[in-house]
Amino acid sequence: MPQRTPDSLAVEFRDVDSAAPDKILRCLDTLQTMEAGRAYKARALEHLGLGPACVALDVACGLGDDVARMKARCARALGVDRSHNLIAAARSRHPDAGCEFEVADAAALPFPDEAFDAVRVDRSLQHIADPSRVVREMARVTRRGGVVLGAEPDWGTYLLRGPHSALTERIEHDWVRTFQNPWIGRELSSLLAETGVGDRRQEALWLLTQGFAESELLFEIGANARRLASEFPEALAWLKAYRAGPKIPGSFVIFSFLPQMIWLDTALRRAHNGIFHLRPIANEADKSPIRETIHERAEGQGLRRGWLARRAKRGWAAAAPARGE
Ligand SMILES: C[S@@+](CC[C@H](N)C(=O)[O-])C[C@H]1O[C@@H](n2cnc3c(N)ncnc32)[C@H](O)[C@@H]1O
Repeated sequence: MPQRTPDSLAVEFRDVDSAAPDKILRCLDTLQTMEAGRAYKARALEHLGLGPACVALDVACGLGDDVARMKARCARALGVDRSHNLIAAARSRHPDAGCEFEVADAAALPFPDEAFDAVRVDRSLQHIADPSRVVREMARVTRRGGVVLGAEPDWGTYLLRGPHSALTERIEHDWVRTFQNPWIGRELSSLLAETGVGDRRQEALWLLTQGFAESELLFEIGANARRLASEFPEALAWLKAYRAGPKIPGSFVIFSFLPQMIWLDTALRRAHNGIFHLRPIANEADKSPIRETIHERAEGQGLRRGWLARRAKRGWAAAAPARGE
């Protein structure tokens, strides 16, 4: 079960209106300023296949920036989010773009069947208790032949830079365990298959942070290390060394895209074989050793899962260094 950690971003995104607004805004805006963040959002927009007559919906739209991008390419673009604060911010951020914003729960979309040509969700199923219900709702409100798009991370691929240590692993996994659905990226295809969405296509893109400041804003490395320090004081020295590290890509996570889900008639449903294949399309040309290594590890998830299960059985305390080591 995900741990309830009061000041973790991953927990606060479940109920933004009870969270510190500055932190939420900083996190959402940081992603938009990052090259990798802009790249995956542009790729997702491309895959929506929007045209001048289209009507599009962004589920859990946050500050509405993706709604404005969709509106620039189609007739109507709507965004829904359960946060009153974020919907108010989206309205004031995009007053003239012709976007429409509404407070709504993603699990009960207030729209009739087949109302949209394209429906997207971006980094939000990871926070929602019943993602299959949301995906069913997204498929319901999408017209036959329309596009359902999910851009969700697979936190099983989250990696911190630097030499291997049990402490680093522990900090990675303390963060990952705060998510409601940390493996949603690899689950998306099956969820869509269950709703009758056919012709599923999948891509994976790296999200690389540059330097400590970006990693800290998105992944709260400092807070995680400080929390751990009550049990393992050496976590503070780890944090100091990590913070002083070189400005190379700092943290990684693979975003799984299911960019073009065409909802077909039930007669045309395809069986899903359950194989999740990671293909870092955006960075195929980049053969740097660090990325290749990480790619191999990501593709070996089966092995990694078994190893993690054994670790979990022994308890994380066994994975972290003993005091005085
Ligand atoms: C990480 S943010 C992503 C926001 C936006 N999609 C983006 O790409 O910037 C997650 C969003 O999910 C919203 N959210 C969480 N649970 C929700 C629910 N049950 N229904 C609708 N929105 C929800 C949050 O309020 C927040 O805006």
